[in-house]
Amino acid sequence: MPESLQLEWKPEYCLGDALIDAQHERLFALANVILKTTDLPGLMRANLDLANYTREHFIAEENLMEARGYSKIWEHRGLHELWIQKLSLASSPIASDSEGVHIALHKLMRGWVLQHILVEDMNALKKIQS
Ligand SMILES: [Fe+2]
Repeated sequence: MPESLQLEWKPEYCLGDALIDAQHERLFALANVILKTTDLPGLMRANLDLANYTREHFIAEENLMEARGYSKIWEHRGLHELWIQKLSLASSPIASDSEGVHIALHKLMRGWVLQHILVEDMNALKKIQS
């Protein structure tokens, strides 16, 4: 069996908000469960856990932005919606191709960290922290 793809959480991914950082790290941990699961029931469970927690995290993040008067909240909400669609697309071959799901999710999570957390979330948090 090939070694599973895993994502590594790094301290430099932290944005300085303890709640958001902990949630981002948990998203990584939940994605890693998917990445090392190959049986269908386990994969479906892990996929549901990531999808549910992603929504929970996005709501928390949007509430924080709204509470602090972030002016581009609607734009950011749109990015979250798009992410949820991409996540669901990545997991669509779940019943027939677990390796394909693993590869797509790994790519998506890595791209998301670089783009969403480190650019879009960081810009938003910088504005509402100052
Ligand atoms: Fe975000």
